[in-house]
Amino acid sequence: MVKSLGADSVIDYTKDDFTKNGKQYDIIFDTVGKRLFSQYKNSLTKNGIYLSAVIDFRLFLQMIWTSLFGSKKAKSSATGMLPVQRRLEYFIDLKELLRMAKIKTVIDNCYPLLQVTEAHRYVEKGHKKGNVVITIN
Ligand SMILES: NC(=O)c1ccc[n+]([C@@H]2O[C@H](COP(=O)([O-])OP(=O)(O)OC[C@H]3O[C@@H](n4cnc5c(N)ncnc54)[C@H](OP(=O)(O)O)[C@@H]3O)[C@@H](O)[C@H]2O)c1
Repeated sequence: MVKSLGADSVIDYTKDDFTKNGKQYDIIFDTVGKRLFSQYKNSLTKNGIYLSAVIDFRLFLQMIWTSLFGSKKAKSSATGMLPVQRRLEYFIDLKELLRMAKIKTVIDNCYPLLQVTEAHRYVEKGHKKGNVVITIN
């Protein structure tokens, strides 16, 4: 599935630990936030950036620290924390990318509103592929 979205190569985290393959990367974009910046540091190139979609207090401190010291940086990005106007602009950009078929979406499952509890239970298992949709008729 990940290859069908455009990835050149894929590493299955249940079989291989990419932090132990000896390679270094300019950017590590952590979209699940299951590990710490310190665990990725050796896998970053000299001026590499660790970007996380999941922010917690420890990462917040590391972001401040790395903004002042060292060449490897920790950063985070949370769409939900952006001002409404900015989110609206992103939404319009996203709509355009979808219209041009430059972005592919993955829908794991759809649940009617009445089954929102089941939908939450499923998402909370932490293994959904793409998005779960609640349909409102
Ligand atoms: N910053 C933002 O704007 C933003 C926006 C949305 C969500 N988030 C946050 O991002 C996090 C992820 O959310 P999500 O919607 O993607 O749902 P999720 O349920 O946390 O992620 C599910 C996916 O993560 C994979 N996964 C689980 N453990 C993994 C690991 N140790 N290494 C690599 N992949 C792993 C699963 O693959 P398998 O099934 O193969 O295990 C599955 O494909 C949440 O903490 C959420 O709050 C942030």
